[in-house]
Amino acid sequence: MEGWYQSSVLSTIGWSLEKVNPLLDLAAEYKKCIEQKIDIGTKNRFSALTLFFEPSTRTRLSFESAAHHLGIKVMSVANAANDTSAKKGETLEDMGRMVSSYADVVIIRHPELGAARRLASSATVPVINAGDGAGEHPTQALLDLFTIREAFGTLKGLRVGLCGDLVNGRTIHSLLRLLVAFGCDIVAISPEELAIPKEVLQKIPRAADAVRVEPDLRKVLAQLDVLYMTRVQKERFHDIEVYEKVKNAYRLTREDLDHASDHLRILHPLPRVDEVAESVDGDPRARYFVQSANGVPTRMALLTAILDIPNRVHAGMSGPD
Ligand code: CP
Repeated sequence: MEGWYQSSVLSTIGWSLEKVNPLLDLAAEYKKCIEQKIDIGTKNRFSALTLFFEPSTRTRLSFESAAHHLGIKVMSVANAANDTSAKKGETLEDMGRMVSSYADVVIIRHPELGAARRLASSATVPVINAGDGAGEHPTQALLDLFTIREAFGTLKGLRVGLCGDLVNGRTIHSLLRLLVAFGCDIVAISPEELAIPKEVLQKIPRAADAVRVEPDLRKVLAQLDVLYMTRVQKERFHDIEVYEKVKNAYRLTREDLDHASDHLRILHPLPRVDEVAESVDGDPRARYFVQSANGVPTRMALLTAILDIPNRVHAGMSGPD
């Protein structure tokens, strides 16, 4: 698969459909294997290290699940701020040198923007950015694209509403440029305080044509194919008064869905707080739990491509060896 082998995954900048689609195709095959409980990978020489300086339910565990499915050995540091020598002042650059001796790929989450890039600057193995502050979360964007493509078969021409905390949402920053590049029309739904940063928009070709701003979710809901809800990220606010002002800006309810199309797909990177009522969960248009589960096959495909693990899907389809 072109463009992934031994590469760090720090940002979605420059990703093309030609780069992404083969990965999503493989993820679709892996998803079938998972559903059918087919063992597709048992023996390889690889090891992965997850190094998480911020809490995570989905990203760390789905990466580790993906690695286990592929037969990759996993080392897991879930509380790296306390449980590594970062606590004693070790820099990310020094850590990058160290961990390269211990694993074939390192997956890092950190509250500081640019942290994954700093680790990668000295690492001699690929580094995957699993979220750097309010920066990026590129592998979330991959599973988001996978989930949208799974629902519609294509991305081109879809109208996607991105709703909530668009200033701090790193999943938004990674996903937005891909949605625009791959032909979606975007409605950015947020109060002014949570708007997509200008410096993010300025770096996206065609953004001026493709992105429309509309703070009122109810005004646009009926026009959307995809509604991507996000949590207002309390931990990123310097001014708690601003957070208090905007924290309840949106709450999607079951009643709102009476005004939405039947083919709408509701996504959310999760965790949610109050922005999606639990009454929405039972609606077939709610796809956020499927989206979260899609993290496993998508990350399997990514690890396969980065490490060049032989694709044993088809061998596996005829039964485990
Ligand atoms: N979507 C996501 O990044 O979830 P976690 O914070 O639980 O990893």
